[in-house]
Amino acid sequence: MIFLFIGYQTLFILMKLKHCIESQQFSKELLFELFNLADSLRENNGELLKGKIMASLFYEPSTRTRLSFESAMLKLGGRVIGTENAKEFSSAVKGESLEDSTRVISSYSDVIVIRHDVDGSAKLCSSVSKVPVINAGDGKGQHPTQALLDVYTIYLEFGKIDGLKIAMVGDLSSGRTVRSLCYLLGKFENVEIIFVSPENLKMKDDIKDYLNRHNVKFREESDLDKILTEVDVIYMTRIQKERISFEDYEAAMGKFVINETNFNFVPKSSRIMHPLPHVEEIELPIVLENFDERVAYFRQAENGLYIRMALLVHLLGVD
Ligand code: CP
Repeated sequence: MIFLFIGYQTLFILMKLKHCIESQQFSKELLFELFNLADSLRENNGELLKGKIMASLFYEPSTRTRLSFESAMLKLGGRVIGTENAKEFSSAVKGESLEDSTRVISSYSDVIVIRHDVDGSAKLCSSVSKVPVINAGDGKGQHPTQALLDVYTIYLEFGKIDGLKIAMVGDLSSGRTVRSLCYLLGKFENVEIIFVSPENLKMKDDIKDYLNRHNVKFREESDLDKILTEVDVIYMTRIQKERISFEDYEAAMGKFVINETNFNFVPKSSRIMHPLPHVEEIELPIVLENFDERVAYFRQAENGLYIRMALLVHLLGVD
């Protein structure tokens, strides 16, 4: 943040981000600026990015992140180029380095959104790109725009983030969404986190160290049903089958499931969230998924559209 002293007045001007690579980049003030912008873009999206081009580069599969970014850009009057299977349909297949691809693509576009299977790829792109780079998920690293939509959703559902108790459930070792979410939750006051994961897929020490440094209370539990009554948010995640060994997957699969039985333990005021896609860890009938207020994950996915619109507007420097 920049402080400008003009006479007796002090103006607080939020630092514009150049790239969006990791959640630690976001201050609490910037988060609320993005929430406000997302709220207003929901009502009236205008054509703020008319004439701008977004390059959408996905080296890994995606439904929500890619399509919501592309929809966000189109709604803002911009245009989209890119590839949804860059591993096969870009010159990566001929051996071109990610740095060279980025140098070239950044001369064709105004912003690059990249998902890659290798940790640190988005950061590497940003080091050679002429235009802003957005990390849409890098291996087991981070997924900062998912975390943005997660905290935005929590804020919309509860009207606050401070003081909430949040359970993160599932594969906490290879899931990048929970890592990015921890970094953002660390910006708020009196948030408490409960990690519930199979023994072989626990939250890593770098995140625990970060939470300790930021005085965020957390603990680990192994019984999901036991904590359902005490938390405000149950953030379920999928076992990341594609990132772990078959043995680790077999040991973890089906350990923590929300089903029609334990759903009864979830207080009416609590919310079940999930970055999606969900597979066997949520087994709820369609009627509950459609109509029960506690199921927040489809609202959460929709919020991703508006927060990504806000992020694009922010990065492309439109007032
Ligand atoms: N949550 C998320 O990143 O979903 P996709 O993989 O469908 O983009």
